[in-house]
Amino acid sequence: MAFKKNILITGGAGFIGSHVIRLFLEKHPDFRIVNLDALTYAGNLENLKDVENADNYVFVKEDITDAEAMQNVFRDYQIDNVIHLAAESHVDRSIANPMSFIMTNIIGTVNLLNAARHHWKDDFAGKRFYHVSTDEVYGSLGETGFFTEETSYDPRSPYSSSKASSDHLVRAYHHTYGLPIVISNCSNNYGPNQFPEKLIPLVINNIKHNKPLPIYGDGKYTRDWLWVKDHAAAIDVIFRTGKDGETYNIGGNNEWKNIDLVEVLCDKTDALLGREVGSSRKLITFVKDRAGHDRRYAIDATKLKEELNWEPTVQADEGLEMTAKWYLENEEWLENVTSGNYQKYYEEMYS
Ligand code: NAD
Ligand code: DAU
Repeated sequence: MAFKKNILITGGAGFIGSHVIRLFLEKHPDFRIVNLDALTYAGNLENLKDVENADNYVFVKEDITDAEAMQNVFRDYQIDNVIHLAAESHVDRSIANPMSFIMTNIIGTVNLLNAARHHWKDDFAGKRFYHVSTDEVYGSLGETGFFTEETSYDPRSPYSSSKASSDHLVRAYHHTYGLPIVISNCSNNYGPNQFPEKLIPLVINNIKHNKPLPIYGDGKYTRDWLWVKDHAAAIDVIFRTGKDGETYNIGGNNEWKNIDLVEVLCDKTDALLGREVGSSRKLITFVKDRAGHDRRYAIDATKLKEELNWEPTVQADEGLEMTAKWYLENEEWLENVTSGNYQKYYEEMYS
């Protein structure tokens, strides 16, 4: 079968990537989806078990830091579009070991840009390089204000600096070589399949096991949380209808101080476990702060709403409930990803 597009989706075995792959396979049977992932600790093909036999799906295990492999994948699968999500994504790991972030997030992105340039030459009709980025590139907000697409970059962790660097390079390939690119910068995602190093799944897992719930610093750090499937839907809209060279902010309009969020998670998880509601709050433990911890992120997603008609659909109450339920129901998934190296990471991070 001849496909209308051959889309390379990188990082498709990860948290957000797996939701993007599933959405595209279901919604666009006329697109071939090539999922390229190195299957690091964060990548898990179990996330895609239900769709792995789809006729329009191919999985390729490669590392984006391998320039030659990227050239080969573009040639072998006649890649004409890219949605680039592969990244080292956890801020705490970037503080402990910045180098893998530099390699994957910066060098890996340049390898993909070079492969696109080489294979697309100057024929950009029907081509698009979509780079998925984060709101952390904008730095940290005080009590008020929002990040817009015009906010100056001010990344403050090795993770956000590596993502900012990759954003700059993607834009540079647009301005210098005319590569048709689009970028989105999204706030914190939550939902099924997130690796339990991130706050929400870590807390749910610890509540289940009656383990301390580590809250960094004073717990008043604020994040804007977005249901992961709403992010996948935004990526689909931007991929199809966004303008070349543009940036779109994606956010949930759903700000929470960490401590308030964790208390709600305690109550919802208690209810689902049949425990006395509120009893898990006693597990909350204030621990040493994250180095250079950004105080507040908040996204202004007006542009995406007004120009491309996208809005979040899932409210926090429903989303957090569905999330707690998913982790409790998917015990095997949680056990698989928390066995082995996770225990070592947890010891080093929280002991
Ligand atoms: P994740 O850590 O869950 O998944 C990353 C995926 O990339 C994994 O499958 C991993 O195996 C793969 N990968 C890592 N290094 C690779 C390499 N060198 N070559 C090939 N594959 C590699 O990340 P996520 O939370 O799903 O984030 C996906 C993207 O979205 C990232 O670019 C991240 O910066 C961005 N983002 C994430 C959030 C969030 O809240 N999680 C918010 C905004 C933007
Ligand atoms: O804003 C988008 C970003 O959101 C993405 O680009 C990143 O890939 C993603 O990891 C996420 O970064 P954060 O650092 O905001 O997410 P994390 O879940 O690690 O932490 C959320 C907040 O909770 C943050 O203020 C730190 C705090 N925290 C986190 C952990 C893991 C704790 O208090 N205790 C913890 O144990």
